[in-house]
Amino acid sequence: MALRTRITELLGIEHPIVQGGMQSVGLAEMASAVSNAGALGMLTALTQPSPDALRDEIERCRSMTDRPFGVNLTVFPTMNSPDYRGYAQAIIDAGIRVVETAGTSAVAELWEMFKAADIRILHKCTSVRHAVSAERKGVDVISIDGFECAGHPGEDDVPGLVLIPAAADQVKIPMLASGGIGDGRGLVAALALGADGVNMGTRFCATVEAPIHDKVKQAILANDERGTNLILRKFHNTARVAKSAVSDEVVRRLAAPESTFQDVAPLVAGAAGRVVLKTGDLEAGVFWASMVQGLIHDVPTCSELVARMVAEAEAIIAARLGRFIGQPVPAAVR
Ligand SMILES: Cc1cc2nc3c(=O)[nH]c(=O)nc-3n(C[C@H](O)[C@H](O)[C@H](O)COP(=O)(O)O)c2cc1C
Repeated sequence: MALRTRITELLGIEHPIVQGGMQSVGLAEMASAVSNAGALGMLTALTQPSPDALRDEIERCRSMTDRPFGVNLTVFPTMNSPDYRGYAQAIIDAGIRVVETAGTSAVAELWEMFKAADIRILHKCTSVRHAVSAERKGVDVISIDGFECAGHPGEDDVPGLVLIPAAADQVKIPMLASGGIGDGRGLVAALALGADGVNMGTRFCATVEAPIHDKVKQAILANDERGTNLILRKFHNTARVAKSAVSDEVVRRLAAPESTFQDVAPLVAGAAGRVVLKTGDLEAGVFWASMVQGLIHDVPTCSELVARMVAEAEAIIAARLGRFIGQPVPAAVR
């Protein structure tokens, strides 16, 4: 048995599971392992220092898998913008067939480049209105990130249980549910809520192949569902990161009414986060992780994880859910 959805059809993958773009994690080791497991792996463009380096990373990933993989390109609201068009051109030149985009509305300019190259666009967003707008502008798939997610959950705070069906009511193109998904139960729930598959970040960080330090994987296992902090809200750029002494300190400093970004800049800097992931020094900065940490208890290979999720999902659909249909109501409760 296999789960066939509009996502498996459209992306030419075996299982309706996508690995979301992850800064400093979305390297060839990660993306190829996910794709070899029959899901869709994703390189992260801005993890590479230049468009040329991205071209090399795409080739490196191709040497590690003959399955489809995509590239994430996230447009951040920063003053010193990276060469987004250069990265997009590198993706096009390398013959990539699927991109995941995310970030500010400036991303629409890149969609035109990708559409002209007949590349499938998965756009990740955190609200129904942005999903509807992206569909209208011609993206191929909506990836909708509930409030549980790692990274940027937006400012509306709508969890997946409401956000996914609310989006499914309005979006006609295939949809991925994202945020807080880590096992077969989440996959079945996503399908039940109207999605065609799932997107996962944190769960893929706790796998053998994730190119991050084992201490970070162990921190993810140790954290439960309460193990995150929301930071930077006062700058309308809310981020969900793992709870740690450093992210607690960020929360503490920003609680002061007169606090500014400069008060926390060294703690939340991307460079500091890279040190955490590379060295396992959890005191060096913050790292992204979601509420799904509460459902993560092991570090499997990507292929073990994907196979287990799909088997769980199939068992839930075939055995558990079917049990609830057509049961006569016991006399005691009639
Ligand atoms: C370590 C890490 C780095 C991330 N970096 C990015 C990024 O650069 N761009 C992006 O669009 N999303 C990024 N995300 C978000 C994921 O792609 C995905 O949307 C999110 O993790 C889904 O929630 P989950 O962690 O509960 O599965 C990141 C997530 C993690 C865990």
